[in-house]
Order: sequence, then structure tokens, then C-alpha cells
Amino acid sequence: MLDRLEPQSPDALLALIKLHAADPRGDKIDLGVGVYRTEEGATPVFAAIKAAEQRLVEEQDSKSYLGPEGDTGFVNALMPWIFGEDATMGGRIAGMQTPGGTGAVRLAAALAQKAGMTRLYMGVPSWPNHAQIFADLELEAVPFDHANADGTADLDAVLRAIRAASPDEGVLLHGCCHNPTGIDYRPQEWERIAEAFEASGAFPIIDIAYQGLGRGLEEDASGLRKVLSKVPEAFIAYSCDKNFGMYRDRVGAFYILCDGTEMLDKAFSNANALARASWSMPPDHGAAAVRLILRDNELTQMWQDELDEMRARMRQVRDRLAEAGMAGSVDLAPLAAQNGLFSMLPVTKEQVVKLREEHAIYMAGSGRINVAGLTTGNIDRFIDALAAVTG
Ligand SMILES: Cc1ncc(COP(=O)(O)O)c(C=O)c1O
Repeated sequence: MLDRLEPQSPDALLALIKLHAADPRGDKIDLGVGVYRTEEGATPVFAAIKAAEQRLVEEQDSKSYLGPEGDTGFVNALMPWIFGEDATMGGRIAGMQTPGGTGAVRLAAALAQKAGMTRLYMGVPSWPNHAQIFADLELEAVPFDHANADGTADLDAVLRAIRAASPDEGVLLHGCCHNPTGIDYRPQEWERIAEAFEASGAFPIIDIAYQGLGRGLEEDASGLRKVLSKVPEAFIAYSCDKNFGMYRDRVGAFYILCDGTEMLDKAFSNANALARASWSMPPDHGAAAVRLILRDNELTQMWQDELDEMRARMRQVRDRLAEAGMAGSVDLAPLAAQNGLFSMLPVTKEQVVKLREEHAIYMAGSGRINVAGLTTGNIDRFIDALAAVTG
């Protein structure tokens, strides 16, 4: 039976990790994998997480099953950070824990499909797994251009998509720190997007995987809040894997906004059933640690300080790149206005290979770079190599 299966190509980024690991050159630079790195090139466990884990070890008295909704204390503690002071929008939002942001996106897509959605609009490029998840569920993903060539968001394209979508068609948006371009909508642009959703009735699916890594915790959630304030229904997929540094612990949440409690209960019960049939219940450890942090003022402050430091470092790297201006044919100036871990450079696949082979610089074939892979020690070498390869 298994002979009928077609071999699948390995994930390109995971293959890049292996290539980088096998490269003996001492000055190699990894801009491929999407994790935060310190000035020393490390991806350490947050001190706030270590402290929360210590408490868990001492205080957790059972590892008995929870339910498909996971740690509801975690789900609720996160809500004011995402949705603001009126965290349930008057009882209109409910959520559940998921295995990472990926689990939340998967659950959003599966529930949308169960409710009759067959098509959604999606800005491209996007996080590659979006297209894979939709294809796996046989949801048609209609692409629109996310960005203009000058490094700004293509607002007209997203507005056209929202107007074209019917109420049972979705439009997928990144809440902040767009992956892979780093290009986010500005506050006035979110305003227009929210109004377009209100006018068209299209169903918003908002994926927010990097809150706090762009402009700040509040700022990064403000676009999403604008949209939610104008629509009757929406799905929100959330990841704590970057802003708590929990990558492998798989910490995420899926939230549903509905027009009334009865409808919310019905939608939630369906999400619950889908989760039960998919992973039964999410892994507990990371979410429990996040709950402990968010329920303790001291740990919350510690976490925010660590997040502030990460954001400031990435801002410094972006400013230094932008200061360089042109590197060969690549204009680095727009990177200062972009957010989060990623930006896309207009380089060809051949130039990406040259950077890797001749300069030991590793980046995705698409030209996506992880700015956190750059440090004061290697950034000038990167700019020079980019100039040499594209000049
Ligand atoms: C836009 C976006 N959504 C979701 C995810 C998934 O995050 P997680 O690792 O929590 O599954 C990512 C991770 O790369 C992402 O970039």
C-alpha cells in the first residue's frame, strides 16, 4: 500500500539548517532558521521561563489529563494582552490552547471549512506552512500581493481581496511582524482594512505569531483589535513560541469571536471536537509556564524586559542595515521601517547560492533573512558580501 505514496521534498529551511551545521567555516552566518538570536548568536531560555519552570517543578501536583481546550488559565491570562482591557469583548471571545501557532492556524482552517468555507484570500509571500495547511484541507487559497517593490505594504491589493470575498470566504492577515517580509500595515492602513471588512462581511482570520517583537506588545496588537471592533465574527491564531522563546514546547492559542454567546458556544464546541480528533489535547508544560508568568507581576515584568531587549536589538540591526543604504543592487534602507525577525531581500536564487558557497552566509532561497542572525561582529561582513554578490 505504501508504495503508492509519492516522495515529498524535505522542508527547504530544515535542509538549510543541516547544510549550515555541516559547514566547517568558522565565520559562517546563519540567517535562515526563524528563531531569535542574541548578540552572541544564542537562543537562550528566557529567565522568566526558567523561573516559572522552577515553580512548576516545585508546585505542580498532578499531570492528569486536562481537556482539548488545554490550560484555560493560560488561555484567559493571555487575552488582555491580545484583545485589550475588555478582553472578551463583552463575552464575545472564547479560546483554547493549541500545539503552537501552527496548531491554531490548522484549527482555524479546519473550523472554517467545517462551517462551509471553501475559499480564502491570502497575501503572498506568506509563511509557507499557511499554503500547506490550506492545501491539506483542500481549502482554495487565492493569492494577492502583500507588498510593493519599494518595501511597503500593498494596501490596494488587500482592500481588493477583502471587497472581493463573500461572508463565507476568509481573508488571512498577519497581525504583526509579517513573515517573511517584515512589512506590516501602518495604523491608518489597519483602519482602512477594518472598514473594508465591515463593509464586505468577509471573514477575518488573523495569525499573530510575534506580538511584542515588532513595535511593542500594545502596538503589535492594535491592528487586530481594530478589525475585531468592526466585525461580527473572526478567528485569531496566536503563538507564544517566539515572544516567550518556547519554540519546541509548542505553545499557542486559538480564539473565536462571535456575535452572541449561543453562537460562540456552538462554534467553540466544534473547535473542541476538532481538537479532540486531531491532537486530543495540547502539550501542557509551556502553557503552564506562560500562565505562571502572566499571573505574577514580578515574572511578567521580567518577561517584558526580556522582550524589550530582543526588540531593541533587532531594531539596532535594522537601523545599521538601513544606514548602509545600497549594498550592490540591494537597497537596505526600507528595512528600518519593517518589523520583527524577517525581511526579504531582492536577490536571485543564484545570488543566494553564491552567498552561501563563497561567503558562508546562509539564507532562504526566497531571499528571506532573519535579522537576529546579524550581530555587531558579522553585520559589516554581511553587507560587504551582499554588495560583492549583487554589485
Ligand atoms: C506567521 C506565522 N504563523 C504561525 C507560525 C507558527 O508558530 P509555532 O512555531 O508556534 O507553531 C509561524 C512560525 O514560524 C509564523 O511565522
